[in-house]
Amino acid sequence: MSRELRFPDAFWWGSATSSHQVEGDNRNNDWWAWEMKPGAIHDGTRSGDAAGWWSGRAESDLDQARAWGHNAHRMSLEWSRLEPTPGVFDDEAFERYRQILGKARALGLKVIVTINHFTLPMWAAKRGSWLWPELPERFARLCKQCAERLGDRVSRWATLNEPNVLAFMAYAGREWPPGLGDAKSFGRAARAMLEAHARGAAEVRRSRPGSPVGLVLNLPVFDPSRRHPGDLASAKAQDWAFNGAILHALTTGQLLFPLSLRPRPLEGLASSCDWIGLNYYGRFSVRFDPRRPGDAFGRHDQTDTVRTEWTDWGQPHPQGLIRGLRRLSRLRVPMFVTENGTWDAQDTRRPEFLRSHLRALHRACGEGLDVRGYFHWSLVDNFEWAEGWATRFGLLALDRDTQERTPRPSAEIYAEICRSGMLLDE
Ligand code: BGC
Repeated sequence: MSRELRFPDAFWWGSATSSHQVEGDNRNNDWWAWEMKPGAIHDGTRSGDAAGWWSGRAESDLDQARAWGHNAHRMSLEWSRLEPTPGVFDDEAFERYRQILGKARALGLKVIVTINHFTLPMWAAKRGSWLWPELPERFARLCKQCAERLGDRVSRWATLNEPNVLAFMAYAGREWPPGLGDAKSFGRAARAMLEAHARGAAEVRRSRPGSPVGLVLNLPVFDPSRRHPGDLASAKAQDWAFNGAILHALTTGQLLFPLSLRPRPLEGLASSCDWIGLNYYGRFSVRFDPRRPGDAFGRHDQTDTVRTEWTDWGQPHPQGLIRGLRRLSRLRVPMFVTENGTWDAQDTRRPEFLRSHLRALHRACGEGLDVRGYFHWSLVDNFEWAEGWATRFGLLALDRDTQERTPRPSAEIYAEICRSGMLLDE
């Protein structure tokens, strides 16, 4: 006998995209320049036309989402288009976003807009990216412009996407621009992004009172591989550096190591979120390794994990979604799952990935956790950063030569859930 797992009536169902990954021809940002560096993109591809959103494909993809019963969408804005030179805002670029947002509204889709999803304009990159002391202030000015010019078409704002991931990949690591590979820069960049978030959120609230503004975090699970004190300590340390310190900062307004060398407050941070987004992909199993001081003496030692030669999204672990939501509930604001998905061009793993995570999400709602919606990553195959086009996350498969779309079987499975507001526990 199968059981009906019903979600709350007003639940938001949708998928997520980000500007650089779908728009195409974003030549004026740090990623476009990074893509030109030999070896930077593992499969040798570039973002190129991406999924053609800027030149007109956004609208038909949103039509498709609506036809599948989605009632919401999460997207982001491209800073390098909106402010191509410092202090000069581009009316035409704002107009293009007004069109896309207008289309979403006409379809009855609620929209979460992330003001910045990883990419920076070249002028900011040339001055030091998130290590440029002026960037938080510049970001706050951008937020004000966005809220004023687009706010009537946006349901919820997110300032930034995953400061922890960006600080890790691009400042501690060398995988993403600026690729500093310097552990100390992790804390500085993450702190700058938290400051930018707090200041940006204040601007959105000033310009659009009543329009909820929040932040999107990626909280993977770090579990010890064995019941071994070394594994336990290392898993705990990795979790603190990646997840815990930022969560603590958002909850208390206090920056602790590695966000700051000595404890100190960050103005406006403690009450900066009206809501919070969780991006969740998987679990890392941490094993003590004395040769890895830079990774808190731990390596990831796991089977059945979703990885390429370079990147590991972790083991699929639906229970981790509940654990992430429980942790975020400490902020006492509504929560959304703003990304969850897996790369799978053949769509063999995705159906079970989707169902198992939605079953977990249903349990989270049953525990009384205040989750208001779910956004699958992603609506359409897109440019997956350093992985290029090798990893396909879309409900729609994209043919890059023709821009033709083909729905993957999971899209229909998800559509059934969106339309009925429930899934069957079989
Ligand atoms: C990011 C997306 C990315 C996805 C899959 C998330 O961390 O927000 O931009 O495409 O993961 O790797």
